[in-house]
Amino acid sequence: MTLASAKEIYEEVYENYKEYVNPPLARVMKVSGSPVEVCARGCTIVDHAGKEYLDFAGGYGVFTLGHSHPKVIAAVQDQMERMSLSGKTMFNIMLGRASKRLAELAPGDLQISFFCNSGAEAVEGAIKLAKAATNRHKIVATHNAFHGKTLGALTVSGREYFRREYEPLLPNVEHVPYGTTDGLAGALTDAAAFIVEPVQGEGGVIVPPAGYLRAVREICDASGALLIADEVQTGLGRCGLLFGCNRDGVVPDIMALAKGLSGGIVPVGAYIARLPVWNAAYAKAPLMHTSTFGGNEVACAAALAAIDVLTEDGLVENARERGKELLGGARAIAHSYPQVISEVRGLGLLVGVELTSEGYGGTIIPEMLKMGVTAAWTLNMQRVIRLEPPLIVTAQEVERALNALRVGVATAYEKLGQL
Ligand SMILES: Cc1ncc(COP(=O)(O)O)c(C=O)c1O
Repeated sequence: MTLASAKEIYEEVYENYKEYVNPPLARVMKVSGSPVEVCARGCTIVDHAGKEYLDFAGGYGVFTLGHSHPKVIAAVQDQMERMSLSGKTMFNIMLGRASKRLAELAPGDLQISFFCNSGAEAVEGAIKLAKAATNRHKIVATHNAFHGKTLGALTVSGREYFRREYEPLLPNVEHVPYGTTDGLAGALTDAAAFIVEPVQGEGGVIVPPAGYLRAVREICDASGALLIADEVQTGLGRCGLLFGCNRDGVVPDIMALAKGLSGGIVPVGAYIARLPVWNAAYAKAPLMHTSTFGGNEVACAAALAAIDVLTEDGLVENARERGKELLGGARAIAHSYPQVISEVRGLGLLVGVELTSEGYGGTIIPEMLKMGVTAAWTLNMQRVIRLEPPLIVTAQEVERALNALRVGVATAYEKLGQL
């Protein structure tokens, strides 16, 4: 791509964003020096000018297998040649196979899957299933949670800023503190379900104490409320475990998945539920919850191939090892710059760097970008920079990202001083 055409591409995209996509976002992205992504492979994104970036934002957790994984692309292409979207009136081979594969992979006796197209849809489906299965109406969620931005998912999410404009949201939803069971038993009296993230991702990478989910499971059992684990971000290897729930050896009643489910090739989400739960809701009402595009052949073929790569290539183990390096390296930087970084937390390759002031992020992230490394805020807590690379990342790439973070932090401190 020539320089002249690179400039033309940038101007075209910027104008289109400004006029037709999201004018204020277009301006913010321009000011922060955001380039145009044109292609990507592995851990690398290439921009409109041919510059390469190491992707440590990772599509907010989507690109578990890196970008454009050839085995998943081959499976998708092969499926597209035969049939891409489901005709719906006949059995769908790929949906059956993908559901069976998820049941083999998921903890305990999670068995029946419903495939959809996004994380928020998986959460909506999970909430509906819990209400229908228990004949109860109340849902309990956690402060600072993020479950998506459709109305139901937004209701169980925690950030006031995203909710305010749309209130009143769903009735009968109560939020309790995250990471502690204080007050949970009382809140769960007569509740249909407790929905919780094994690690709060968008909430600023909040890792609860070990044993939290086990205690939650016991309280849910005692109250008859179902446990919904939102593993949209933590699932499928991200935390150095196949699922975040595995940290405590807990089997939820319903688990929501999305993001990495197709390895970053096509949009796909799902919830998977225990058979008695599903039966209690839908044994006599099989079409109560449906989706035209959900469970389409291409999405299921992608999910099947992505699960194969995840399990066969040892990516969960790699996430665990590289995660330790990333966490340790980021903590060393925090140690050198306590004026800028207040805490570094994480599990596997979901790492959050909490800044002492939100003001530093506006310099650190663009500086990292200049050095060819992407990073991003977390949605509920803009003071936290997330580092969430593909699970295929190498030790050298972790080093490169840490180096960019160190330079970004040093530059921010030099420019801004103590905020
Ligand atoms: C834990 C969790 N649940 C649900 C969602 C919503 O997913 P989507 O953006 O695909 O609707 C997200 C997105 O970040 C998430 O992190």
